[in-house]
Amino acid sequence: MSKVLVATSKPFDSEAIDLMRIEVVRHGHDLVLLENYSSEAELLAAVSDADALIVRSDLVTPAVIEAATQLKIVVRAGAGYDNIDLSAASAHGIVVENTPGQNSNAVAELAIAMMLFQARGKFNGGTGTELKGKTLGIHGLGNVGQCIAAIANGFGMRVVSFDYRKRLRYCEKHGAAAVDCVETLYSTVQYVSLSIPLNASTRQSIGYDLLSRLPENGVLVNTARKEIINEADLLKIFAEKPFFQYISDIAPDCKDELLQKYPERVFFTPKKMGAQTQEANINAGVAAAKQIAAFFATGDTTFQVN
Ligand code: 3PG
Repeated sequence: MSKVLVATSKPFDSEAIDLMRIEVVRHGHDLVLLENYSSEAELLAAVSDADALIVRSDLVTPAVIEAATQLKIVVRAGAGYDNIDLSAASAHGIVVENTPGQNSNAVAELAIAMMLFQARGKFNGGTGTELKGKTLGIHGLGNVGQCIAAIANGFGMRVVSFDYRKRLRYCEKHGAAAVDCVETLYSTVQYVSLSIPLNASTRQSIGYDLLSRLPENGVLVNTARKEIINEADLLKIFAEKPFFQYISDIAPDCKDELLQKYPERVFFTPKKMGAQTQEANINAGVAAAKQIAAFFATGDTTFQVN
């Protein structure tokens, strides 16, 4: 019997936990919970005898890896695995996986919800604008970007994207008109929705060069990671473009300054909540449990990222 630790400072819905437990127990393993923890010390203690670890955005640092002497596999129940130290895991022979696509619809619905909320003056009862007929650039046409494209098309938006691998038909297949490069994307649209992962090449990659291409009333929508934004450049754009807006599920470090100077032009969720639906929790949590069961049963590493 292996110990599968679910360590989540932002817990899964209880229904998801029930279904994950059924999956884990069915395969002869034990599910142990560490929820709502607030210090790394708690995680270090809990992980010391774990064979498998399921996390969300929880930080899996080299210290966590060091403390987890029995650990064979970590599954990030979600898409982005920038919270996991892949080198440390690899150095200890630990497999790291994610569960791509399982929470995408929830994140996409939040992106659209934030766009509607902002376009309607944060529901203040005044005159707003509609999404229909507006242009939306999807920066990152992966699982989340594809869901956003589908919903935005339903709203009558004109959806544009590009593919780093230059597969023009890939964009069209997912309901987006193709442009040839990222710069053209920003020069073509009013709204840009960010669905790119955080890694060495995307960190701070959304800066002045791209944002200055947006129109005066450009709207940047971020359901990805705060670190992909160059915040000094973002502040510069706010000062230069009097109608520019930024709505994000991940508050930037310069949140207080933006809220103080441009309260009408920004919106930040109280805490990251893109994947916070019962459905997304069930999909991602159960997928993680199944992947761990398959790993222990047959050595399956289909979703390995390290
Ligand atoms: C992801 O990468 O899957 C999303 O950002 C959701 O993250 P969360 O599980 O921490 O809410």
